[in-house]
Order: sequence, then structure tokens, then C-alpha cells
Amino acid sequence: MNRKIIVLDTTLRDGEQVPGAKLNVLQKIEFAHQLERLNVDIIEAGFPASSAGDFQAVQEIVRSVGDSVSITALARAVKSDIDAVYESIKLAQNPLIHIVLGTSNVHVEKKFNRSKEAVMQMGVDAVKYAKTLLPHVQYSTEDASRSEFEYLWKTIESVVKAGATMINVPDTVGYAVPEEFGELIRKINERLKNLDEKVILSVHCHNDLGLATANTLSAIKNGAEKIEVTINGLGERAGNTSLEEVVMGIKVRENHFKCSTDINTKEILKTSRLLTHLTGLDVQVNKAITGENAFAHSSGIHQDGLLKNKQVYEIMSPEEVGAESMELILTARSGRHAFKNAVEKMGFDMSDGEDFESLFEKFITLADTKKEVYDHDVFYLVTNHRSIEASSSQLYELVSFQVVTNDLYPTATIKLKKGSETFKDSAVGDGPIDALFSVIKTLVGLEVELKDYKINSLSRGKEAIGRVNLRIEYQGKIYAGRALDTDISKASAMAFLNGINAALLDATNDNLN
Ligand code: KIV
Ligand code: ZN
Repeated sequence: MNRKIIVLDTTLRDGEQVPGAKLNVLQKIEFAHQLERLNVDIIEAGFPASSAGDFQAVQEIVRSVGDSVSITALARAVKSDIDAVYESIKLAQNPLIHIVLGTSNVHVEKKFNRSKEAVMQMGVDAVKYAKTLLPHVQYSTEDASRSEFEYLWKTIESVVKAGATMINVPDTVGYAVPEEFGELIRKINERLKNLDEKVILSVHCHNDLGLATANTLSAIKNGAEKIEVTINGLGERAGNTSLEEVVMGIKVRENHFKCSTDINTKEILKTSRLLTHLTGLDVQVNKAITGENAFAHSSGIHQDGLLKNKQVYEIMSPEEVGAESMELILTARSGRHAFKNAVEKMGFDMSDGEDFESLFEKFITLADTKKEVYDHDVFYLVTNHRSIEASSSQLYELVSFQVVTNDLYPTATIKLKKGSETFKDSAVGDGPIDALFSVIKTLVGLEVELKDYKINSLSRGKEAIGRVNLRIEYQGKIYAGRALDTDISKASAMAFLNGINAALLDATNDNLN
């Protein structure tokens, strides 16, 4: 029988550390529900000691999916962090405390400025304390791949004796290479199973040299039982190991790896697209598994071969990662039943009749403008609808706008709403989008700076939806704003406002601290 590999998704913790990828609570819950459908074993929901907002988000994720998925959250090896994790995850059915502490010389000497023994003792004390709270404790030996092996092992041995039930070996800075990392895991696994065969060995790789997937697969081949991964490989710097690459690697090459995961691979594309939509961070077109071109064959020779037999150039079918369920074409005449069916097929809950009616109205408006509504359109319609419905009275909403474009005085007029207040003004800019942003800045009275602005077409056809992704800087922090509409001026104004709203929400959370 194949070994089962446990999959921990850390998109909501390591992935969310990416500048501009910060999600609000509702977006995190939406994404956690999708991870539940993807059937990951463990969700790392955040770093609760980092802010009141993160603590609350972890609690909400536990409330939403904590009775079907195991939930963990990160703590440094200090009591207050462990308490924050415990308090935020304790209501989950299968909670796990995750403690991290460095083992490499550079971490011990430069980060902690303590002796190796003192740092190890910190780890042991942290595990002992965590065990008084919960039975399952994971210990991560940060920067393990650059650690001196005997010290690394001594740390693992000590924390296992103190009660750690999972040992996670991170390649924190993406320094490892596959053979060497595999050998490290083989050596640790051999000693670990002699010490206590029930303790689970896990790996967590970063992609600084583009080797995260290769290192993770090499670790699996050498005994790793659990992997820590993110969707689209999102994560610090060059990112983390991408879930979809490892999961499909194991599946397609089962004969080589002789193991499997419980991931529902048909949910992979949906999960990837939801994350792209929520964070505004695009997947490169040629990215394995989830890139737009991952299953596109353009050369004549390849197309000819494929027509004769798919296996000539295809090692896995697009259907296996959920590509076929994304292809739907609806029109204004499709009716409620067809639309509901399409939305539910994408995994969204449509049991609230009122919510469905208001979404259906938006669908009809879109279908009237666009004629043919594709799967992408429906997907973005729903996710956009959800985030708008969720906006609180402290946030700005676009009521109406007008842009006049010419080569003398491009002008924008905007009306905004915040709770029961409305605001209205006009401004001139270098161009229509600049004029829109200027007037919004004046109306909200915040010193924000536009750092980056991107616009692309989301679907096919001449009535395609335009998606705007932008980044703004406010008080030294970067916030992402995104929006979509068939009118790109409107999408631009809404994206700018969404960025401002993200900054306002963050400021509210900071004030709670
Ligand atoms: O990269 C790393 O070392 C981490 C740990 C917290 C596992 O993210
Ligand atoms: Zn990491």
C-alpha cells in the first residue's frame, strides 16, 4: 500500500507574508473554505501573536472550517506566542501548536546572541509549555538546511523527549539542493524512527534557487511524511513549495514515489484562481499545473500528435486539475437554475436565497452587456460580490463617477459613500486614470502613493471584463487593491478605493493592538 503524505497548506501564514498579499478576515475565510474543498489535511491559519487582526482571523477560520480540517498557527518559542496560538485554535477539532526556533549558527549567534545550549533549552521549555495546553505540537528547526547536523539532531532529540509530535525541517532560505536535502531527511528519519516511530517528519522548503519542489520531492523519497506547501507557490521572497506541483508530481509519478495524498486534485485550478483573485498576484503563464499555458499546445507537430492520441504529448489531463469544470458559457437567457448550478459547481454556497437573488441580478446586468458569460466571469462575479457585500460601514464605496478624457484637461468627478455620509468632488490629472485617483485621494484625505498599476482582460470576447490590480503605499506599508468591471475606468476607481479600504482596515486593526 502507498504511504500517505500529509499536506499542510501555509498559504494563509507564509504566503500571506508576501508584501501586498494581505487578506482581510472574510477573504481568509473564503480561501479556507476552498482549502477545505481541496481536502488539505492541515491549514496553517496565521501567526496570531503578530497582530489582533491575525489572532481574530485565525479564530474565525477555526469557527468556519475547524471541525473538518486540522488547524495550526505559528508561535515563536515564547510563552506569550504559544498562548496566542492556543487561544485562537483551541476550539478546532484537531488543533496543533506550531513552534519555530532557529538551529543554524547564524540564527543562534546573530539572532539570539546566546549559547547553543541556551537556545535548545528555550525550545525544550516552549514544547513542554505547549504540551500543557494541547497534545499535538510541531517543532520547526528554522534554517535546518544550514545547521550543523549534530546540533540539529540534538535539538530534535531534546524536543521530541519534551513531547513534540511533529518535527518540521525547513529549508528557510532556499539554500538546499535535492540530493543533499534528501540525504539530510534520510539521516534524520533513521534516527527519529529509532527514537520514537510515532513522531511525524515534515519538510518546508523555499524557492530561492527554484528548487523548492525538487527538494520537497527528494525529501518525500527519503522518508518525509508531511509537506508544508502553498498554492501557486506563494510565500516569502521567491516563495514556498507549490502544493499543486508536488501533489501532481506524486500523482503522475506514483510508480516512482510510491505514495499519495488525499488532495482533491480537481479543485486545484479553482483554488489557484481564487488566490490570484484575492491577492491580485498573477501566476506566470508557463507555471507548471496552474499557469494559463500549462495545458495549451501551440506547435503544429504537437497539435497533430495530440489529435492522434492525447498521451503523445500529455502526461496528465487538464480535467485532473479541474480544468473542464471551469468551462461554462451562460447568457442572459440561461435562467436562475442554470446560473445557480454553475455557481454551485464552482463550490460556492448559494443556500441564502436573498444573497442568490442579488447575485443573480448582477449576473443579468453582466450578461446583458457581455452576451456570453464564461466560467471566469461567473467566478469573479461571485468573489467580487462577496467582498462588496462584506464591506463595513467604515469603508468607502463608489457611488458614481464620470471621466472626461482629452489632451488638455482630463477630468474626473466622483461620488463616494462611507456609511451614511456621501462625498463628491472633481479633479484634473495627467490622464483620466490619474484624474480619478487624484479626486479619490482628495475625498478620502489620505496621503497614499500609487506604486504599481496593471490592467488585463479576464476573459475572451470583445466585451471582456477588465481586471485592475494596483498597489499603493500608505504610511510605509504596501496595500493591494483590485477590482473588475466591463468598464476599465470604473474598475480602476474601485481598485484604488479597495486599496485605500485595505489600508483603513489595517489601521483599525493596529489601533486594536
Ligand atoms: O521558512 C521557515 O523556516 C518557516 C518556519 C516557520 C517553518 O516558515
Ligand atoms: Zn517558510
